[in-house]
Amino acid sequence: MTLTFIVDRAETDQRRRDAALRELSFGAAPTDHMITIEYHVDRGWHEARVRPYGPFEVVPTSRALHYGQGIFEGMKIFGTEEGGAVAFRPDLHAARFRRSAERMAMPPLPAELFIEALEMFASVDGDWLPSGRGTSLYMRPFMFGTEETLGFRPARQFRFCLFGTPAGSYYDESVGSLSVWVSHEHVRAAPGGTGAAKCVGNYGGSLLAHTRAVAEGCDQVLWLDAHDRAYVEELGGMNVFCVVVEDGETVLRTPPASDTILNGVTRRSVIELAGDLGLRVVEDRLAIADLHEMAQDGRLREMFACGTAAGVAAIGRIKDGEHDTRIGGERTPGAVTSALRERLLDVQHGRVASRMAWLRPL
Ligand code: COI
Repeated sequence: MTLTFIVDRAETDQRRRDAALRELSFGAAPTDHMITIEYHVDRGWHEARVRPYGPFEVVPTSRALHYGQGIFEGMKIFGTEEGGAVAFRPDLHAARFRRSAERMAMPPLPAELFIEALEMFASVDGDWLPSGRGTSLYMRPFMFGTEETLGFRPARQFRFCLFGTPAGSYYDESVGSLSVWVSHEHVRAAPGGTGAAKCVGNYGGSLLAHTRAVAEGCDQVLWLDAHDRAYVEELGGMNVFCVVVEDGETVLRTPPASDTILNGVTRRSVIELAGDLGLRVVEDRLAIADLHEMAQDGRLREMFACGTAAGVAAIGRIKDGEHDTRIGGERTPGAVTSALRERLLDVQHGRVASRMAWLRPL
C-alpha cells in the first residue's frame, strides 16, 4: 500500500540543528519535520503528511487519553563510513508495531507504509543525522486513538505519527555501568496481559517502581515475573542478559521472549551476533536467587541491558532488599559485553559485510 504524501516544509533553523547535533541529549531536540497519517475505519489509511514538527490538537474525549489506546516504537538511523544513512532493521520494527497494534485492538499499519514514512522523514530531515560512532537519529513512530466519545470500545479513528531526534548515548558513559533495583512489590506484566506489546500503559505502569529505583540510588528496575516473583523478566524498557561460566564454558543467558517480555530488536540482534562471536546463548528462566548466588561464587561474570535507545549497557550492581550484589568490575564493562556492544555498533554503522541485510539504505 502506498499513499501520496502532502508536503508542508518547515523553515530550517540551522542554529537549533547545530546545537542539537553538538549536545545530543536523548529526545530533547526533535528535528524540523514529522510525518502523520490518519486512519478511519470507513476510509482506511489516508491523508499522509510531512509537516513541521509541532503540537497537534487532540480533543479531550480522545480515547487514547482515557483508555490508553496508544503504541510506539523506538528505532534508529545510523551514518555509515561512506557518508550514507541506514535504518537498522526497520522491517522488525514495522512488524512489532503491527503486533502491538493488534494486541491493543488498533489497526495494524501496513509495513510498506511504515517504511515509506521513514523514507519520507529521512528525505526531509536526513541532515539531522549526527556523525560519530554510537550516535544516530532516534525515531519515534507512534499511534493513538483520536476518536471522540467516551463509550468503552476500540476507537474507529487513529493517528500515526513519526518524529525523530538526534541521539548520542542514552546513559552517561562516564558512569561505567548501571545499577538495577529489584521490584518485588509491583509487577510490569502478567501472563495474558500486554507485556509483549509496546503500548503506552506498560511504561506508565512502570514509573512508580522506576521512581523507587532512583530513590534507592539505582538506574533501572529489574522486573520479576508476576506469578512467582522469583524469575527475572526485563528492565524498564530494555531486555537483560547474563554472562555465566558453566562447566568452563562462557554462556550468554537471557529469559525467553514471552507474552510478559518485550521481544526486543536489540535482544534478537545480540542473540544472533553472539553466534558470530562463538558464544552459546541459552534462553531460559533466570531465578533472581540464582543470580545472587552465581555472583557470589564467581559464575556470574557480567550482566548487561540492551535496547534500541541504550544499545548494550553493562550492569554492575543488583540491589534487592538485603542483597547488594556487585557484578564484575563496576566501572568497566566486561569483555563479552564490550565485544557485543562493539560488534552491534559495527553492524549498525555498516561495517560488517555479512550483516548488511539488517540495514536499509535511506
Ligand atoms: C527504546 O529503547 O527505544 C525504548 O523505547 C525504551 C524507552 C524506555 C527509551
